[in-house]
Order: sequence, then structure tokens, then C-alpha cells
Amino acid sequence: MAKTVDPWVRTHALFHMLFMFTNPYAQLPYYFVVAFPQNVGLNTTLEEEDKEIFDLVEKEKLRQYTGLELIASENFTSLAVMEANGSPLTNKYSEGLPGARYYGGNEHIDEIENICRKRALEAFRLDPVVWGVNVQPYSGSTANFSALTALIQPHDRLMGLELASGGHLTHGHQTAKKKISSSSIYFESMPYQVVMETGLIDYEALERNSLLFRPKLLICGASAYPREWDYPRLRKIADAHGAFLMADMAHISGLVAGQEAANPFDFCDVVTTTTHKTLRGPRAGLIFFRKDKNNDLENRVNQAVFPANQGGPHNNTIAAIAVALKQAATPEFRKYAQQVRANSKALAEALTNLGYKLATSGTDNHLVLWDLRPQKLTGSKVERICEMANITVNKNSIHGDKSAVSPGGVRLGTAALTSRSFKEEDFVKVAEFLHRTVQIALDVQEKTSSKMLKDFVIALEGNQDIAQLRNEVEDFAKLFPMPGFDSKTIKAAERIREPVKTTDSLKSVEHHPSTEAIKPASQE
Ligand SMILES: Cc1ncc(COP(=O)(O)O)c(C=O)c1O
Repeated sequence: MAKTVDPWVRTHALFHMLFMFTNPYAQLPYYFVVAFPQNVGLNTTLEEEDKEIFDLVEKEKLRQYTGLELIASENFTSLAVMEANGSPLTNKYSEGLPGARYYGGNEHIDEIENICRKRALEAFRLDPVVWGVNVQPYSGSTANFSALTALIQPHDRLMGLELASGGHLTHGHQTAKKKISSSSIYFESMPYQVVMETGLIDYEALERNSLLFRPKLLICGASAYPREWDYPRLRKIADAHGAFLMADMAHISGLVAGQEAANPFDFCDVVTTTTHKTLRGPRAGLIFFRKDKNNDLENRVNQAVFPANQGGPHNNTIAAIAVALKQAATPEFRKYAQQVRANSKALAEALTNLGYKLATSGTDNHLVLWDLRPQKLTGSKVERICEMANITVNKNSIHGDKSAVSPGGVRLGTAALTSRSFKEEDFVKVAEFLHRTVQIALDVQEKTSSKMLKDFVIALEGNQDIAQLRNEVEDFAKLFPMPGFDSKTIKAAERIREPVKTTDSLKSVEHHPSTEAIKPASQE
């Protein structure tokens, strides 16, 4: 019996033949819209497909371009990194490691991951006989939890820098009432701190407490510590207890790659990092491990990442990390790292010259911890004014803060603006803008009867000094190029500037009694 041909298939074949003799690309809409309507939208641009999200992306690009980005954990990555990150590599499953996957079709993915691993070792000048690296962690937090899983057993003891002293959540953070991080939920944690008077790490107390606590793991590294680490001393403390020493160099890995920070690899068993801070890559994490100590760290780390804590690697991100690491190994990146530190010093000096107090009185790295307690201001209030003026900073606790809810300072970092080609003199200007936010805060605080943040925020509404400052900040920011995209192509309208009546509050604040503390450092 002759087979009957489905009329749909017949029509489809007819159209296909027609297209063969015309423009082959003309068939695309036919295939997606008529022949396979379920696949509609798979080849349209974000702008055509989802205007709502597209518009928000464009608005965010405009915000980044017209603002002063001072969040110490952020950076502006390159176009090449973003291209790899947004590539079809996101489609592929590849659980396992190169050469040992649970899925087929990974020949190119294997090559990409191998290149990434090789470049990771090269960027930090590591001998592949001594060090290995896992490039699959989705972020710094998951990298840290995988490292802990590899190094110690549930309920084993670890010591990390306390959150309030500048440490990270994932280094064992808990409060009196609650275990907050999985690093304190699954392990027993005892923090070490900075000396309250100086803001510097209290190595003596750490050493003393370690004799009582006997940790299996000592973690160094921080999110808000502006000074260098004493790795030899930490190694000695770890060795006294047969403990592992792990550095989380997330904040400073770009400086380590650029040889602008002491090298944790000389002393640690495991080094973790994020890839999106000073290293200027995509959002992800890395775990480096010693291979030469007969303790099977290689297998332990690899198994902790997958299958213990993660599933399929994000191959698009791994390709983007590889690109960032290639860049991080160049002489240009070394210059970038030098400039990040020079800028941080310039910012610290400019703030000090304006009479402000800084935690540890300065900086060795990319960040400055600005203590606002002498001005009787909180970090939250200054953060809010900065945000309204398109300066992005974050409130941060300063050693000795009475309340964790109301941090006494602000953390500032120079990595992102250095990627926008800011130099030392530009950071002097940034310090002047920051000074103005304090003057505005003092003025508003004086006029507001309550000290509560919510009343302060209400009192800021319509503030003309902030409007004026924002105009100046945006005009200044727009003088600098934007890594990763061309600012001229941003499809978002700039806000309409209302005419600003400059009030005399800025003048009056110079004689405000609370500015007594703001004297040039030389007068103190
Ligand atoms: C020192 C340190 N480690 C880990 C992390 C966590 O990284 P992620 O946000 O990628 O999980 C951070 C984030 O700020 C950090 O500062």
C-alpha cells in the first residue's frame, strides 16, 4: 500500500524547495514562525524579544557610565570576557573534569577548561608540579565551602578573621544567637580579630586562642582589610596545630597576579579566589591546591566541587575566566595593578588631608576603610547620600563599632575606577566629592530632630545640594571611558536635570560645630 504524505510535511517541503532557489536567509522567519512556531523568538535580539529587560540593561549601563563606582569588590570587566560569558557555551553540560565527563560532546569544552587551568597557574606563576587548580566553582562562596569540604570534616574546628574585623561570612561567621554561614553551621568556628586601637590583625591573640581551640584549618583573607598579611606568621601558627592554612585572596587576587601584594602561594596549602574583583574577570571562583604534600588534596578538592557541592560547570563562565587570566598575565595588567594601589594611596591621603580618620590610618592595597565615627555619622547615612549623588559605596563596620546594625564607616575601593583610567589626581577629586557628601550629611543631620536613619532619609528628599553634587559627579564620570561597551551606544535616556538652586547649607556647614573633627591631619 502506498504511503500517504502528511499534508503539513508536503507544504513544508514545497516551501523549502522554493527557498533553495531564492535567498537562503529568507527561510529563517519561515522556519521559526511558520514551520516550527514553538521555536519562535530563538533568534531575535534581546531588544526585540524582551524590551523590559533590555531597557533595564541599558539603564544599568548608563548608571555604571555616569556614576563613580567605589564598591571595593567590584570591577568593570572587558568586552572579550563578556563575549565569552554570553556565548553558546552556556548550552553544554559537562559534569566531571576534562577527559572524564559524564556527558558526550565535550571535546571543545575540555580544551577550554584545560586552557583555563593552565592560564590560572601561569597568571600566578605557579609550578604545575606543585600546584593544581579547579576552575569550576560558581562563585567565591561556593569555592570556599568546597575548600572547607575538602580540607576538614563536619564539626572540625576552623579560625577565620571575624566579619566585624573585615573577614568574610564564609570564614565561619556566626552571631551569639545564630550560626549564619554554612561555614559555622557545619564546622566549629572561633574567629580572630583586629586590635581595636590600630585596626591591625591581632596575631598575638590569634596565636594564644589557637592554643586553646586547636584548629584544623586557619583561614586568612578578608573583605575589608586594607593591610598586608603576615603569611609566614600564619603558617607558623597553623603548623603548631598540624592545621591547613588557606588564603581567600578574593579581594586582592588581581594584586597578587600583578605582583602588587605578598604572595599567599608561598605559604598556603589552598588558595581560593573570586574572579570578578581586582582580577577583573566574570563572576566565579577558583580553588588552587598543593599537589606535592602526599595528602591527596587534588582529589579532595575536585570531588568537593563536584559531586559534593555543585553540578554541571558553567562553561561560558570558565571560558570567560580563561580570557581574564590571559589578560591578567600581561605587562599591561601589572601596570593596572600598580595603578590600583597608587590610586588607593592617593584616595587615602586626600581623605586624610581633609581631616578624616581611616582604619589602620591608610592602605596597602586597593581599599580604604573610612571611619565616620569622629564626624558622629554612620556609614548608612553617607552611603545613602552617595547613592543619591551617583557615587556607589557600601557602609562597613569599623573595628570597635558598638552596633553591628549601624556600621561606623564606609568601604571604598579603587579597582573599578582604575579600569576606567582614573589616575591619582582623579581620586583627589573623588575624595572632594566624598567630603561634600559628609558636609551634606552633617547639615541634614543637624536640621533633623531625630537621629534615626529613616527620618534622615526622609529629610534628604529634594535636597538641592545633593542634586548639584550629582550633576557634577555625572559630568566628571562621563569624562572617562567605559570598559566593555561603548557609552555612545547606550539606549537609555539620561534623566532630565532640574535647575538646581544651590542652598547656602554647604557654606554654613563649614562652621558647623560637628565639623570640628574635620581638621587637616597635620593639626591633630
Ligand atoms: C573575601 C571574600 N571571599 C568570598 C567572597 C564571596 O564571593 P561571591 O560573592 O562570589 O560568592 C567575597 C565576596 O565579596 C569576599 O570578599
